[in-house]
Amino acid sequence: MAAAPLVIATKNPGKVRELAELLADLPLKLLSLADFPDLPDIPEEGETFAANAAAKARQVAALTGLPALADDSGLEVAALGGRPGVYSARYAADRTAPLPPTDEDNWRKLLEELEGVPEAERQARFVCEIALALPDGRLFQARGECPGMIALEPRGREGFGYDPVFWLPQYGATMAEVGLEVKNRLSHRARALAGMKETLRRLLLEGALGPSSPA
Ligand code: IMP
Repeated sequence: MAAAPLVIATKNPGKVRELAELLADLPLKLLSLADFPDLPDIPEEGETFAANAAAKARQVAALTGLPALADDSGLEVAALGGRPGVYSARYAADRTAPLPPTDEDNWRKLLEELEGVPEAERQARFVCEIALALPDGRLFQARGECPGMIALEPRGREGFGYDPVFWLPQYGATMAEVGLEVKNRLSHRARALAGMKETLRRLLLEGALGPSSPA
């Protein structure tokens, strides 16, 4: 089958790699925002992961004239009423302004906010919303969640973001300790993408992701 073009609407090379690996078995010619250096920055201003992913996918599809896939993700902590949620990347921004906070700034702030919260009340989940926008205006969305707990202290060096403090009781380890292969089986992003791949397969069969080019 000829490969159909799909723009991954992110500048984050880590996310591009992760998504490219998960999409490797589909006949797609993957592009990313790095292939479109003149596109304007797209601010994340929505109040939900779904709204942010949809806005990003829609704008990139409109600007490039190609199907676009965007994701928005973050951490929801039960004891904090769902925070930091859509603000996960900017959670500790108050401490480091005007620089964006580092991953470590963010998880340190989280551990401080949860000081005194007992182990049994430290439930959390990673959430990922993926949106696929077609240039004709059609939009498809998929959600993935990964439940866990917030650890009492950081452990592990793999992964990124809040992984060192995200405890997986079934593994007796944090997300930063289990390794990428395990993470890619259970992560919120992998689960959301599994749902979206069904849609992509159907659209490929319908020829709805054209124009196509030789693989
Ligand atoms: P996004 O790039 O706007 O989706 O930002 C998501 C933020 O949520 C990141 O900066 C991380 O702090 C956090 N996050 C999302 N996915 C993960 C993950 O798989 N592990 C750890 N942190 C994550």
